[in-house]
Amino acid sequence: MSASERIATWGAPAATVVDPVGGTLAGATGRYEKRLADLQGVFADADAYARLLAEDPDRLHYFVEDFRREERAGDLIFGTSVLLPGKVGREFHMTRGHVHQLEDRTEIYHCLSGHGILLMERGGEVEAIELTPGTIAYVAGGWLHRSVNVGADQLVTLFCYPADSGQDYSPIERAGGMARLVVESADGGWELVENPRYTGPAA
Ligand SMILES: [Fe+2]
Repeated sequence: MSASERIATWGAPAATVVDPVGGTLAGATGRYEKRLADLQGVFADADAYARLLAEDPDRLHYFVEDFRREERAGDLIFGTSVLLPGKVGREFHMTRGHVHQLEDRTEIYHCLSGHGILLMERGGEVEAIELTPGTIAYVAGGWLHRSVNVGADQLVTLFCYPADSGQDYSPIERAGGMARLVVESADGGWELVENPRYTGPAA
């Protein structure tokens, strides 16, 4: 098959439309949701998690709507991540976090609304980029990454990454989480603190 024939099989151009506050993506090809019951072991305060779980296991934490045409090298996957506000104990709501299976695959996150942190880690080194509307954060290859909502409203980000990246959640699980937690500070803002469950660099 020639290069032009291969490209022709990728289909026609497509437009999608994002709601920057609601976070929905009209024209998306997929959607998934994570609820409180799906996030067992993610938050450091197990007692606070158990209390909230007893109250409302179906509480929505985040959803993702994305556009995927192909999952092969050269294509892109993009979409929205919508993380609801709130805390589990002192720890702000966050996504599970992952590293890309293909280590050199990168990603960008463009904050559309809300206030968050893109928490990244590699080999025990930590980076936290504050997300406010307009921020475009770049995730270099090999870095674990998760988003955290430190604001009062939904955190809506638009992400884009190579379609063959793959997502590996296991390094964070094996290490007892990431090295730092994003928690509420004494003045009502946010701060990074050591994760007491952390057992060492995972990626
Ligand atoms: Fe990613």
